[in-house]
Amino acid sequence: MSDEPDEQPDIDALMKGEKKYEWLSDPRFKRLFTDIEDGLQGVLGRGKFEWVDRRVFDQVFDSSTLLAVHKLMQKGGIDTIDYPIARGKEAHVFHASTNHGPVAVKIFHTSNAVFKGLAKYIDGDPRFSGLSRRHRELVNIWVRKEFRNLKRMRKHGLRVPEPLDSLKNVLVMSYLGDDKGASPRLKDITIDEPYEVFEELLDFVAVNWQSCGLVHADFSEYNVLWYDGEPWVIDVGQAVTHQHPNAEEFLVRDVTRLVEWINRQGYGAELAESLARVLDDPVPTLPPLSGGD
Ligand SMILES: Nc1ncnc2c1ncn2[C@@H]1O[C@H](COP(=O)(O)OP(=O)(O)O)[C@@H](O)[C@H]1O
Ligand SMILES: [Mg+2]
Repeated sequence: MSDEPDEQPDIDALMKGEKKYEWLSDPRFKRLFTDIEDGLQGVLGRGKFEWVDRRVFDQVFDSSTLLAVHKLMQKGGIDTIDYPIARGKEAHVFHASTNHGPVAVKIFHTSNAVFKGLAKYIDGDPRFSGLSRRHRELVNIWVRKEFRNLKRMRKHGLRVPEPLDSLKNVLVMSYLGDDKGASPRLKDITIDEPYEVFEELLDFVAVNWQSCGLVHADFSEYNVLWYDGEPWVIDVGQAVTHQHPNAEEFLVRDVTRLVEWINRQGYGAELAESLARVLDDPVPTLPPLSGGD
């Protein structure tokens, strides 16, 4: 417990007034940043992952992101952020620890260039209309969209990570992997029975379309992890509802990628037949997974 409670910064107020960063050098915040740095030992390169240097830190952890991470740490959703699992074009994903086990923390970059192309997935989705188009706000909406899409998919029994918490550009979800590391992508492994996996993934697309009313819109062997002998789908931030004007186009593209993947393994799946299955065949009702909504 602090013996100077009044000295603790009000994070909410800070995050609202984040336009200028002079406060960063304020001595009152020294303790705050010491706390955050303690929780970020791994990513600062003091841990065993020394390839993670200051540049990664600077790219990902701007002041607003640091504050969001700190707040999630205070809430208990994250204890320490340990090391990066992946650095993508839009986000870094980190292995993090809590007192109830590992979690994955996806931190979206807030640099303008990255998000220029993404507005098309949010315009036209009625759940997010009327919101500010300011860039940072767009990133935050993106994170909330991924969070809600994960919940909706889990409600319908689809194997996606469980969303645990989110704040600003930070998403906390269940970790797919083990002590040795994160689960591999479908792209990186050879499967014994690929046709079965193809059918399971086609079912995923069908349930997602027919029961969730969603289309993933970036479905590929890069966004499927092989975890515990099963395919798990990730990266659902860009998934849109039926109402989206390009929903069918995205659906055809998703199914095309899946058909191309199985046919590269030496099979002869037909696009038309696979699409018909997704659109018209009755889909199973799967038991909901935890955290679905
Ligand atoms: N829940 C998770 N558990 C373990 N690894 C994950 C998880 N989510 C993402 N990853 C890893 O991070 C990578 C990037 O995540 P993804 O959501 O696909 O973001 P991007 O938009 O950068 O493609 C994935 O390819 C995977 O290796
Ligand atoms: Mg991805």
